[in-house]
Amino acid sequence: MSLPEPSDSTAALVTGASSGIGTEIARELASRGHNLVLVARRHERLSALARELASEHGVRAEPVTCDLAKPASRGRLPGRLEQLGLTVEVLVNNAGFATGGPFYASDPERELQQVRLNVEAVVALCSAFIPPMVERHRGAVLNLASTAGMQPMPYSAGYAAAKAYVLSFSEALHYELAGEGVTVTALAPGPVATEFWEIAGWEVSGESMEQAVPGPAWVRAEDVAHAGVEGLEHGSRVVVPGLPMRAAMLASRYIPNAIKLPSIAAALRRR
Ligand SMILES: NC(=O)c1ccc[n+]([C@@H]2O[C@H](COP(=O)([O-])OP(=O)(O)OC[C@H]3O[C@@H](n4cnc5c(N)ncnc54)[C@H](OP(=O)(O)O)[C@@H]3O)[C@@H](O)[C@H]2O)c1
Repeated sequence: MSLPEPSDSTAALVTGASSGIGTEIARELASRGHNLVLVARRHERLSALARELASEHGVRAEPVTCDLAKPASRGRLPGRLEQLGLTVEVLVNNAGFATGGPFYASDPERELQQVRLNVEAVVALCSAFIPPMVERHRGAVLNLASTAGMQPMPYSAGYAAAKAYVLSFSEALHYELAGEGVTVTALAPGPVATEFWEIAGWEVSGESMEQAVPGPAWVRAEDVAHAGVEGLEHGSRVVVPGLPMRAAMLASRYIPNAIKLPSIAAALRRR
């Protein structure tokens, strides 16, 4: 029960491959000989990455444009895979974004969009691709959670709740599928410097994340990708990349929410 060996007729499907952690996970899997199906909305970026992976690693890389927040769009993915003649043996649910600020002032449609992409799409792709993996007794699933999902977060309430769902769902599936030849790993990074922060627009104590969060807490996207793929190889349940973040999350388990929440609220409240 670990990362299946690559073959000509199989592929790893990576969502959110047009940027950040998803791009690096695709590179990491290609370097190990896996064909790639690269999914996101920005076709140009996916095509450029597909050309790079094919020429650098000699793998087959297929860009597939899809808005994963839309049920009709993501519902076409299994058929597209069939057309390509590729079987998904590795599924990476990475696409995601975060809202921030007080929930009462946030855009209701954006909040729902976050649930559709960060939660609904993860469940839908797991429903589509895990049953055939169980049938073949072979497969690996990497779901992008976050350290944000390890406690409620005032001023990022929807994002933390979405990632808590992904974490809980993935940990439970890890055990359900342990005897079925399919490994499920939740990858839960702390802060990673990607386009994510620009889109989220989070602030800590009135400063941007880059200014406010100390250097050792940050992990590079390529290191997150490496840790995630290694997690699949080892059949890990949860991977928190980087020692400082791992230690912080371990310590945080012993601090009650009644103490944690006021300090998170004070840090993330906009001035
Ligand atoms: N950066 C961090 O600090 C951090 C920490 C913990 C967890 N994470 C998680 O890691 C994952 C990747 O984040 P990242 O940091 O790499 O962010 P990123 O650079 O902003 O990448 C997000 C990816 O999601 C795709 N995406 C967004 N909306 C989509 C949609 N509706 N349909 C299909 N694809 C969509 C984007 O592609 P298109 O725009 O081309 O569609 C992009 O490829 C997310 O789940 C995030 O929550 C990030």
